[in-house]
Amino acid sequence: MSILVTGGAGYIGSHTVLELLEKGEKVVVFDNLVNSCEESLNRVQKLTGKSLKFYEADMLDRTAMDKIFDENPDITAVIHFAGLKAVGESVAKPIEYYYNNICGTLVLIEAMKAHNCKNIIFSSSATVYGIPETPCITELFPKGQCSNPYGWTKSMIEQILTDIQTSDPEWNVVLLRYFNPIGAHKSGEIGEDPQGIPNNLVPYIAQVAVGRREHLNIYGNDYNTPDGTGVRDYIHVVDLALGHIKSLDKLNEMNGGVKTYNLGTGKGYSVLDVLHAYEKACGKELPYVIAPRRPGDIDGFYSDPSLAKEELGWQAQYDIDEMCRDSWNWQSKNPHGYKG
Ligand code: NAD
Ligand code: UFG
Repeated sequence: MSILVTGGAGYIGSHTVLELLEKGEKVVVFDNLVNSCEESLNRVQKLTGKSLKFYEADMLDRTAMDKIFDENPDITAVIHFAGLKAVGESVAKPIEYYYNNICGTLVLIEAMKAHNCKNIIFSSSATVYGIPETPCITELFPKGQCSNPYGWTKSMIEQILTDIQTSDPEWNVVLLRYFNPIGAHKSGEIGEDPQGIPNNLVPYIAQVAVGRREHLNIYGNDYNTPDGTGVRDYIHVVDLALGHIKSLDKLNEMNGGVKTYNLGTGKGYSVLDVLHAYEKACGKELPYVIAPRRPGDIDGFYSDPSLAKEELGWQAQYDIDEMCRDSWNWQSKNPHGYKG
C-alpha cells in the first residue's frame, strides 16, 4: 500500500512525507517544483534512512498522473498539497491560480477515479471561513466570502470534493482547514523556503533575524485585539504533519463520506507576541516599523480544535516558543534556504 503525496517537496508536504516514512508507510511523491526543490526530499530520506519514489510531474498533465497510478497500483490514498498559495499573487494572477489549483485538482481526481482510488485528504485553509462572526472558529461556522482568489480555490475545491462524494458514495474525503503553519523539523534540515520576499509573518521575521531583511513591517497596530496587532492561531508544522497521519487512519475507518477538521492549537497570538517569541529564540532584538494595514487582513481568529481531538485523537503539542525555536534553528542553519 502506498500513499501518494502531491506537492510533497513543499513546506508542509516534506514534513508530512517525513512522518509517513517514520511510520513505515510506502510513499510516492509528485511535484512540479514550481515552489520547491528536490533537495527537501533528499534530506527527508537522509533523516529517516528510508526512501521514497519521486516524480517531477505537473498535476495538470493527465498522462503524467495516469503514469504515476499505472506504475504504482498499490496507491490507496492521496494527500493533496499541490497548489499555488501566495495570497497577493493570486489577486494579481487569478487565472493562473484558478487554472492551476482547480483544473489541476480536477485532473488529479479524474486520474484517481480511473484507477479506482477514492480516498483523499485535502489541504484546505481557515481562509474559507471568510470573516468569522466570533474569533474562535468551529467547523460548524458557515463558509464565508474569501478576500482573494487563492482562498476561493480552497473553498471551491472543498465543494468539488463534496459534490464528487455525493455522486459516488464510495469516496472518502477529509478536508483539513489549516490555521497558520510555522516552524520546522527539529533537525533544522527541512523548513519553509519562500522564494522572493516572504508573504507570511514568521518567514519574514526569520529573514530579519538572519540579516537578510532590515526590519519587520507590522501591518497595522489599530486592530481590535489586546495590543492592536493581528491575532492568529500559529501551529507547528510537525503537529500539522501528524494531523495528516491521524487523518489517514480516519480515512481507513470511514465508510464513505466527507469529514472536515480545523487543525490549529486553539490559541491566538498577536504579531508582537510572535516577534517577541522569535527574539527569545534567536537571542537578539529584532527591528520593526508599524506600517499601514494590509488589504484583506482581519483582527484576529483562532481555531476550536476540539473536533480533531475527539474524532482524530489529534492535538497540537508544540507552543509558540518551540515553533520559533525550530524556525530559527532551520533559518540559522540554512540562511538562504535549500540553496545554503
Ligand atoms: P508549498 O508551496 O511549499 O507546497 C506546495 C507544493 O505544490 C510546491 O512544492 C509546489 O511546487 C507544488 N505545486 C504547485 N502547483 C503544482 C502543480 N500544478 N503540479 C505539481 N505540483 C505543484 O506550500 P505549503 O505551505 O507546503 O502548502 C501546502 C498546501 O497547504 C497548499 O495547498 C496550501 O495552499 C495549503 N495551505 C498552506 C498554508 C500555509 O500557510 N502554508 C495554509 C493553509 C493551507
Ligand atoms: N503580518 C505582518 N507583517 C508581515 C506579514 C504578516 O504584520 O510581514 C501580519 C498580518 O497582518 C497578520 C499576521 O501577521 O496579522 C499573519 O499574517 P500571515 O500572512 O503570516 O498569515 P495570514 O493569517 O494572513 O494567512 C495565512 C496564509 C493563508 C491562509 C491563512 C489561514 O497565508 O494562505 O493563513 O489562516 F489562508
